[in-house]
Amino acid sequence: MTDKRNFTSIVEDLPTAIPFVGPEAIERRVGRTFDARLGANESAFGVSLKALEAMRDEASRVAWYNDPENHDLRGAIASHHGVGAAQIVVGAGIDDLLGLAVRLFAEPGQPIVASQGAYATFVYHVHGYGCEPVTHPYRDDRNDLEALAAAATASDAPLLYVSNPDNPAGTWVEASDLEALIDRLPETCTLLLDEAYAEFAPASAIPTMSVNPRVIRFRTFSKAHGMAGLRVGYAICDEQVALGFDKIRLHFGVNRIAQAGALASLEDETFIRTVVRRVEKGRAHYARIGTSLDLSTLPSATNFVTFDAGSRTRAESILSSLQDRGVFVRKPSEPPLDRCFRVTVGTDPERDVFEKTLTELVRSGA
Ligand SMILES: Cc1ncc(COP(=O)(O)O)c(C=O)c1O
Repeated sequence: MTDKRNFTSIVEDLPTAIPFVGPEAIERRVGRTFDARLGANESAFGVSLKALEAMRDEASRVAWYNDPENHDLRGAIASHHGVGAAQIVVGAGIDDLLGLAVRLFAEPGQPIVASQGAYATFVYHVHGYGCEPVTHPYRDDRNDLEALAAAATASDAPLLYVSNPDNPAGTWVEASDLEALIDRLPETCTLLLDEAYAEFAPASAIPTMSVNPRVIRFRTFSKAHGMAGLRVGYAICDEQVALGFDKIRLHFGVNRIAQAGALASLEDETFIRTVVRRVEKGRAHYARIGTSLDLSTLPSATNFVTFDAGSRTRAESILSSLQDRGVFVRKPSEPPLDRCFRVTVGTDPERDVFEKTLTELVRSGA
């Protein structure tokens, strides 16, 4: 019997290739484990011991469903940012919330604006909801805010996505420029401001504005907090927008161990300061490696550094040679950043493995 069922036309048109080939999948394919896992911008600096204790304790209560309102965590996040709990939406990482934001504001077929080569999961959601990405290239390896605002106006897009600091560049734009961008946006357009790397950024890159109805800001416990596998992130937004999220979010999607761990980590500010300092030290180490090998590095306000290999071909060859030698890194796929490869700040021993391997490669002509 032939199968009479059809996927929706949106799903039918989606590519089967997905942008989430994890390091585990690569390890399975090449039949070895990586010596240095420096490609996914995870934290190399562990998790707050207070958070670990809270999670261990909460594990004894996993027979119970989680609090679907994320009440305690939302309250703590709200006081951390000086906003109301009704302006916080908790989700299973920024990735989850970005998908919900697209679903909230964009009809299938509508354009959504982002930089060419912007964070792949966002673009995945744009396609997943049947929307059309409208992109503009990075300028000087930064989000080109003026061009993005012009594209949003010209295309009448309901959404404009900017990550600041940016992945995959690592660069950042100043808060004053973001504020000017917001003023310039059409009234029907919402700015999705992805601040996954905010903890690593200079204060001048993070807007101090109170909640703006035209902006949804996204934060995560995956980077500085070292909890990528826990899956917790949040949006800071206008109350009406938060009510919209409430209509479509998975209310039991953030498990109770994650809720308890995130809450304890948020309160452990000393731990976060230590992580930020270690990341700064690691970024400086990478800059020195770049200088010694004649590979320039882009300025970074994140937990990774983007190395400029000069051409796409060379960047691809360095990336695959590093992976063959047990060092997992990634690279941007779209021009102009496709000439680069991107390396997460690892521990001292991981950075030494990377330095030794890259030096051997470059000295042998890579
Ligand atoms: C810009 C950006 N946004 C979001 C994420 C993912 O955040 P989460 O783990 O909270 O889904 C990443 C992770 O690499 C990222 O680089």
